[in-house]
Amino acid sequence: MARLRLRHLLVTGGAGFIGSAFVRERLRADPEIRLSVLDKLTYAGSEENLGEARNDQGDICDRGLVDRLASEADAIVNFAAESHVDRSLLDPGAFVQTDVYGTYVLLEAARKHRHQRYLQVSTDEVYGHVKEGRSREEDRLVPRSPYSATKVGGDMLVGAYHASFGLPTLITRGANTYGPFQFPEKIIPLFITNALQNLALPIYGDGSAVRDYIYVDDHVSAIARVLWKAEPGSIYNIGLGSEISGVQVADTVLRLCGKPASLKTFVKDRPGHDYRYALDVRRLRPLGWEPTVKFEDGMRVTVDWYRNNEVWWRRRKAPEFWEFYRRNYRGLPETAIPSS
Ligand code: NAD
Ligand code: DAU
Repeated sequence: MARLRLRHLLVTGGAGFIGSAFVRERLRADPEIRLSVLDKLTYAGSEENLGEARNDQGDICDRGLVDRLASEADAIVNFAAESHVDRSLLDPGAFVQTDVYGTYVLLEAARKHRHQRYLQVSTDEVYGHVKEGRSREEDRLVPRSPYSATKVGGDMLVGAYHASFGLPTLITRGANTYGPFQFPEKIIPLFITNALQNLALPIYGDGSAVRDYIYVDDHVSAIARVLWKAEPGSIYNIGLGSEISGVQVADTVLRLCGKPASLKTFVKDRPGHDYRYALDVRRLRPLGWEPTVKFEDGMRVTVDWYRNNEVWWRRRKAPEFWEFYRRNYRGLPETAIPSS
């Protein structure tokens, strides 16, 4: 394959958790590269996450805006999505709009401007609940939440643009990611910040559901590998191959925060809860990628970051957050929710 020269990337959703880590990593690794960030700055995105990179505030569903920004770039890396499963159970429409229609708008722009690459950041959730064995990239997609169904919609469109129009596409399917700058709604940042606030850690069901947690820097370095090294049309799983339960996450957080086990609170299970994701990551290895951060080490760094950045996460745990929290965790005693 001829050496790929990508000098200007349009990074959509780049002000969110993983997208901003990708932006920071790229600026460190290649100071010559031009990055345009397009982010709607929903509750989950913030320019604060971006460091020195500039964001054009806007929606990936806005065809005119996307067309203008894409005309100057030679590739799109799409992180933009509604990303929280629990919110998709409360408001699926926003997920259909961004994760499916938004993907279509980006693909059209990449096609029109003859981009060298289009990379879709997808998720291991597209495989659905995996009872046994490990998901390979060719496996059937069996999404079970509105979030994962709309991510499958995005993946399917990407595959279709490759097959029908020859667009040089790539898809990555990453495992559960954690680290600094993650909005405090996903299990790890929610449990850390709740522990620091001496609030209950709400564990769904019996807490036995497992995930393959990957530290955010490892996830974004794998995305970069795929972008520069993979054959167009390919799909790559990104994960460690580990299995960590909700109870193990809670115990690790409480130990690292020095808080009592009594904060663990078992709550009504998530509807349609996928109990196990497990990726086969053998395809990725020949690209020269290896994970560098073990769960215990990543968790220590992450807990320290939240301890030292209280202003950042307290600003996000605002009244609208607690409104979502009340709707989502029905039956949680009022004492488990701060009054202001
Ligand atoms: P996030 O919610 O932190 O960030 C998403 C970003 O997209 C936000 O900055 C938000 O403002 C932006 N956005 C939302 N709708 C938009 C729109 N219509 N137009 C422009 N910008 C919009 O999510 P994240 O955890 O950083 O996830 C990034 C991507 O990685 C998503 O596509 C997600 O599906 C995927 N992913 C996430 C994980 C995980 O564990 N967090 C794992 C695997 C894959
Ligand atoms: O697997 C990748 C996916 O990981 C990404 O595509 C999604 O964007 C991301 O949100 C994440 O989805 P999950 O549903 O796996 O993550 P979440 O942190 O919401 O839940 C992880 C596990 O923890 C799951 O088994 C449910 C459980 N959980 C979660 C929350 C928020 C709890 O027990 N209590 C909670 O309060």
